[in-house]
Amino acid sequence: MTQKEMDLASQRLQGRVGFVSGGLRGIGLGCVKRFLAEGAEVVLSDLDAADSETVGEVMSQLGSGASYVQANVTKEEDWLRARDAVQQRHGALHILVNNAGVDLTGPVEAMTMESWRRIMDVNVDGVFLGVKTFVPLMAESGKAVKGGASIINVSSIMGMVGFNDISAYNASKGAVRMFTKGIAIEFAQKKMGIRANSLHPGFVLTPLLHAGFQRWVDSGFAQKKEQLIDAMSAATPMGRLADPAELASGAFFLASADSAYMTGAELVMDGGWTAQ
Ligand SMILES: NC(=O)c1ccc[n+]([C@@H]2O[C@H](COP(=O)([O-])OP(=O)(O)OC[C@H]3O[C@@H](n4cnc5c(N)ncnc54)[C@H](O)[C@@H]3O)[C@@H](O)[C@H]2O)c1
Repeated sequence: MTQKEMDLASQRLQGRVGFVSGGLRGIGLGCVKRFLAEGAEVVLSDLDAADSETVGEVMSQLGSGASYVQANVTKEEDWLRARDAVQQRHGALHILVNNAGVDLTGPVEAMTMESWRRIMDVNVDGVFLGVKTFVPLMAESGKAVKGGASIINVSSIMGMVGFNDISAYNASKGAVRMFTKGIAIEFAQKKMGIRANSLHPGFVLTPLLHAGFQRWVDSGFAQKKEQLIDAMSAATPMGRLADPAELASGAFFLASADSAYMTGAELVMDGGWTAQ
């Protein structure tokens, strides 16, 4: 966020604590910055070692409201360590963004069982473990804030429509979408004070998208990444790809009391892609 945008921020997350997985880059980092600008305290996690250069660089931009914990979303013991860190530092959790994810491309007949399992492990098991680990603390914390606690599971438009050569990713993001609806009903009917919604980005300019485009270039599908960015922009009704900060706005809305009557819903932010 620019200083001007920070000044315009509403502080509507004052007094709330958020946790963002995969928070060092892309959409996750966008969410961390927006939540901080809105007055929240944020714990972010990622794969990088806490004493790595990247973590040092990112944390130096974020200020004292942010803290980092190294955690692989596929490992339950890492989630438990992350929960202990949140509990110790803040004693509460109001917002959970299950953002960490990977994309793998390839035709189904060429896909190995190993790559199928890896994408399910990160994109689906990682979300399940995050929810399971933090639900007790969020149920307790949610009672104290307007609109309750909020879980935001990052799916994709690829969890709603199919796309060539990414069937495993389609399947994983579809699972996130339906898991979110299941827990939303469970928590609402048990009056647990936790809402859960899925966020469905279209094409967002992040390291993940750049790496995916590079794989297409390497496999001879295109000559340059720029060609792919132009082609994806042209195929998007709004004629451009998204900035991570635009997705963070959606996450902020779902985190705040402005979305108090929203649970089990899908927030699609795709420049019109799925409206076609
Ligand atoms: N970029 C897009 O166009 C797009 C579109 C739709 C959905 N998404 C989804 O948004 C989310 C964020 O994507 P992004 O584009 O910002 O990606 P990114 O690769 O730029 O950032 C993802 C972060 O997750 C971390 N991560 C990966 N595996 C992890 C693991 N096992 N444990 C902990 N952290 C891990 C990475 O280190 C990275 O910092 C993903 O779930 C992705 O599927 C992205």
